[in-house]
Amino acid sequence: MVASKNPAKAAELAAILGQTGIQVVGTEILAKLPAPHEDGATFVANARKKAIHYSRYVPFPVIADDSGLCIDALGGQPGVRSARLGGPAATDGDRIRLVLRKLEGVPWEARTARFVCVLAVAQRGVVLATFEGDVEGVIDFEPKGSGGFGYDPVFYFPPAERTFAELDAGEKDRVSHRGQAISRAVGWLAENLRGTPEELPES
Ligand code: IMP
Repeated sequence: MVASKNPAKAAELAAILGQTGIQVVGTEILAKLPAPHEDGATFVANARKKAIHYSRYVPFPVIADDSGLCIDALGGQPGVRSARLGGPAATDGDRIRLVLRKLEGVPWEARTARFVCVLAVAQRGVVLATFEGDVEGVIDFEPKGSGGFGYDPVFYFPPAERTFAELDAGEKDRVSHRGQAISRAVGWLAENLRGTPEELPES
């Protein structure tokens, strides 16, 4: 089960995992479960916390993702607070505007940033493994593109000379922090996770 209540993120994870032949089951159960408090100081701490939390409700292995954007000129912010920047009512567009405002006057060469993703796999309250990925970019001066989600429109990826929101989904998955974390996880998942749909509880 992919444990993420962020539909765009969950879809990305499920799509990348689907290509590896690993079957993702049970995501509909997630909507009915209470969410954990994401109050860890690091991506690893939050990913572990989410995976442990959701894995207590289901018999099969759970993969949780904690990810975010770390901007060097802002001392690594918003980091683990990426989803909460600007408060609970803020939209992705609001968060992008906030970041661009904080970076006003910062020149291109000082706008370096990275997306970080940590995946934690847990079963019955125990973390079995964690995997990390990151990707370097530059915060653009203005949003560009309509693909992806979150901060993708301002995350300029130099090797592609475009923002993540200007890449198609497959292109982003091949280079992204999430794609990298998953490719590190795939061998381990295939080897260790053999849950079958028969194990799914009544929902
Ligand atoms: P969380 O892991 O649920 O705390 O949320 C991570 C937040 O980081 C997301 O809500 C986005 O704002 C941001 N983020 C993580 N990965 C990506 C990505 O691939 N593209 C754009 N924004 C991302």
